Amino acid sequence: MSAFRNIGIFDSGVGGLTVLAAARAACPGTQFVYLGDTARVPYGSKSATVVRRYAREIAHYLTKARAVDALVVACNSASAAAIDVLRQECPVPVYDVIAPGAGAAVAQTRTGKIGVLATRGTVRSQAYVREIHRLDPHAEVTQVACPLFVPLAEEGWTTGPIPQTIALEYVRPLIEANCDTVILGCTHYPLLRDAIANAICVEVNLVDSAQPLAASLADRAATGSGRLDILTTDDPERFRELGDRFLGETCPEPELVPIEVLAEPEAIS
Ligand code: DGL
Repeated sequence: MSAFRNIGIFDSGVGGLTVLAAARAACPGTQFVYLGDTARVPYGSKSATVVRRYAREIAHYLTKARAVDALVVACNSASAAAIDVLRQECPVPVYDVIAPGAGAAVAQTRTGKIGVLATRGTVRSQAYVREIHRLDPHAEVTQVACPLFVPLAEEGWTTGPIPQTIALEYVRPLIEANCDTVILGCTHYPLLRDAIANAICVEVNLVDSAQPLAASLADRAATGSGRLDILTTDDPERFRELGDRFLGETCPEPELVPIEVLAEPEAIS
């Protein structure tokens, strides 16, 4: 198996920077190119058909125009809608964020009661429920769609009374179901980790996919320059402002890739 020299990562916006940060920490010498599709965020409230088209366009662009040798779908909504078609079509290994999160949750729960906070699209797909039940058929899964979290994260509005109040509403069913483990099933939600933890109040395991995913990449990462390219489909200046904060380091100047450039592919390979 050859080592990955240039890993492509994409998300609908800034949320996947949480995955990128973990991946760069685990693979410090590897080159990464990150694409945030801010022109078309949110994905989580769109149909699976539309999200699949966006994901195929981006995968095509990253594998062809940017020559990535591995692809990370750092978006639960896109993983849920498109992972099968991306794996069929892409000429490179494709990583998703649902399997690592589900695996970590099943490993950590003591009671078998697992909560999933996710977008409407991810909840509707049942992707987490299927993956958790594949690992533990007896697990009890409670899912809650949290559509307001993504705009809060995109606005950088992640602390204070507003996210706190919204989080309280969303976590109520998980508290009622006595979940001891809660999956942050959208890559934007780790940005709201404190608000979510405060709202749940009792001690639970908060699981996100970034660490287990990063660990699996580290097994195959090449050592090189550690270069990082950031691409966005809209407003690079805005992306940069949030990028510094969410990446935990200075975000390189984002390059604008207009969505017209991401032409719909017939097939990726
Ligand atoms: N960050 C994405 C996810 O993990 C999608 C958020 C959105 O675009 O709705 O689902």
